[in-house]
Amino acid sequence: MAEARRIVATAALPYANGPIHIGHLVEYLQTDFWTRFQKMRGHECLYICADDTHGTPILVRARKEKVTPESIIEKSWEDHFRDFSDFEIKFDHFGSTNSPENKKLVEEIFQNLKDKGHIEVKKIDQLYCEHDKMFLPDRFVKGTCPKCKSADQYGDSCDKCSATYNPSDLIEPQCTLCGSKPVIKSSDHLLFQLNNFKEFLQKWVPEHTQKEISHKLNEWFNEDLRPWDISRDEPYFGFKIPGYDDKYFYVWVDAPIGYIASTQEWCLKNNRKLEDFWSHKNSEIYHFIGKDITYFHSLFWPAMLSCTRFKLPKQICVHGMLTVDGEKMSKSKGTSIFARTYLNHLDPMYLRYYYATKLTQHPDDIDLNLTDFTQRVNSDLIGKITNLGSRGAQMLTKKLDGIITEPLTDGLALIREAQARAEAIAQLYEARDFSKVITEIRSIADMANKFFDEKAPWKLLESDIEEAKSVVSTSLIIFRLLAIYLKPILPKYVENVEKLFGEKTYNWFDTIKLPLNIKLNEYTHLATRVDPEKVQKIIDETKKFYESQEKVEKTNVKKSDDNGLIDFEQFAQVDLRVVKIIEAEEIKEADKLLKLKVDLGNGITKQIIAGIKSAYTAKSLIGRYTVIVANLKPRTMKFGISEGMVLAAGAGGKELFILSPDSGAKPGDKVK
Ligand code: MSP
Ligand code: ZN
Repeated sequence: MAEARRIVATAALPYANGPIHIGHLVEYLQTDFWTRFQKMRGHECLYICADDTHGTPILVRARKEKVTPESIIEKSWEDHFRDFSDFEIKFDHFGSTNSPENKKLVEEIFQNLKDKGHIEVKKIDQLYCEHDKMFLPDRFVKGTCPKCKSADQYGDSCDKCSATYNPSDLIEPQCTLCGSKPVIKSSDHLLFQLNNFKEFLQKWVPEHTQKEISHKLNEWFNEDLRPWDISRDEPYFGFKIPGYDDKYFYVWVDAPIGYIASTQEWCLKNNRKLEDFWSHKNSEIYHFIGKDITYFHSLFWPAMLSCTRFKLPKQICVHGMLTVDGEKMSKSKGTSIFARTYLNHLDPMYLRYYYATKLTQHPDDIDLNLTDFTQRVNSDLIGKITNLGSRGAQMLTKKLDGIITEPLTDGLALIREAQARAEAIAQLYEARDFSKVITEIRSIADMANKFFDEKAPWKLLESDIEEAKSVVSTSLIIFRLLAIYLKPILPKYVENVEKLFGEKTYNWFDTIKLPLNIKLNEYTHLATRVDPEKVQKIIDETKKFYESQEKVEKTNVKKSDDNGLIDFEQFAQVDLRVVKIIEAEEIKEADKLLKLKVDLGNGITKQIIAGIKSAYTAKSLIGRYTVIVANLKPRTMKFGISEGMVLAAGAGGKELFILSPDSGAKPGDKVK
């Protein structure tokens, strides 16, 4: 055996903000396959992961649920860990980025970057919500795209025209939390000068990731690399930046450092040195990530690491995104499936097997086709692989003496052929070409099943016992080989095969010896077929979940009872106010709209876009009193934001009459 390697493999740290779904599993499963394989080969290999706990979303959720962020992340950690364990994913350590180890490392690495002169401080303008008292990250601002003018777009990019921009460029921006209009506020930010590393990265990237990825990154290298804002203002859930009272490290700073911190936690528990893994000349670090987070891992992360005592990764292994039946996972179609929902109905081995059949070393998207999923698992894993074992085992134990004997020449030749594939299969595992691993395994199973069928040992039970035993033993020996080849993918399944043969835990080199003269234990079911009805149940349960969630959101606004009657509290929810129209202007591009500015008293004004142009001229309205709904959620329209609704009656067109109060009512008076 070659010298043992020392490997750290990481999967990206899942956000503590939500549950694990089948998209995530594409990553955590392939990393599990790979690390289990390395261990079977006798290498020291750590599978390291952690929850990614910091950032604004957790903070916002904590405020809403009136709990601490810490209690949310604690609960998430337990849920995530249970989901992973039940999917047979075996981490060596699953930590949390909110740990003292991580804090210390973040501070150390930040100091390294500062000492080497890569941090600059600059004033930056950002959108700030005065109601929620916080700076708004991109995803917390919506407004009209500055480029194509589509309404309802996020602060960083437009869904319609895919333009990217700064949130402060949005037209009529709105805080997604409270609907109010954010203001621009300026504060000091710490910028990591990524461009200082351009030359280094341009050389490093192509040597450490797939060529599809480095091609993509070449586009970025055509221009200067923009400085990276690593600081966030209070309030934020994260680590404070040393030297500042009210600034925090951006979550993407402490998240990858979490890879090192989580390794360190493992080292502390196992009495090992962190340096042996993260600073040793012979250690190897592999990051498994999805292509959506390539930029962070192949630019920021290596640039940061290059300033520290830690070594750079050997490879960034990028995979594509999961689609279900050819489309992005969807809530309404019920394909945005949580890991737990799957587990409520099906054995994890099926998904492990199916993903393996789809995974290659390329970053292409992978598709879970639900019909194909059922068919593939049933025809291959059950019909070919398991069948080989179950037919052989049942005949050997029930019709023969239960002992595996040395096969005759043709059987032996077949076994040698199956054994000879071991190194090729190992190389496919090493290269993360799991789909080809499965192709190899399936072709060996085909070969062995064909042999069994042609020899028809059940006919030989009377006439040629020796030949019958040889054929059955051949099948079982090959089945055992297949189990070893499959073990990184189907660990629980193979545990049962080990029990059947009464052998101890297989490692890769158990493929060399043959299980001769072993008395087989009684055969118990290894796997049953996937029932398509259960797949449907998973979809139904998922749909139901999202539908009920939507309902909860909607019923936050109380509805009328069955007779269409509402009680006084429900009426009181509508805030009707007297206002004075102080400005009015016609919107030229719109047939029906006037833009009004109304006075609500106490110095408060609101802008209202009202569909009353067909009945009123702008001029005739100025100075008039009317009644509006004052607590309507602000709405971003094509011509600006509308912060309320003018009450009017009539059929429409010229027949439109706005309400007026009797004289004496003042702006701001409540209608009740
Ligand atoms: N927290 C960051 C990663 C920080 S790593 C220092 C993050 N978390 S995530 O929960 O959104 O995603 C975790 C991993 O799962 C990422 O590598 C991501 O690409 C992967 N996947 C999430 N959804 C996925 C699919 N639908 N399909 C395939 N992989 C997916 O990003
Ligand atoms: Zn707000």
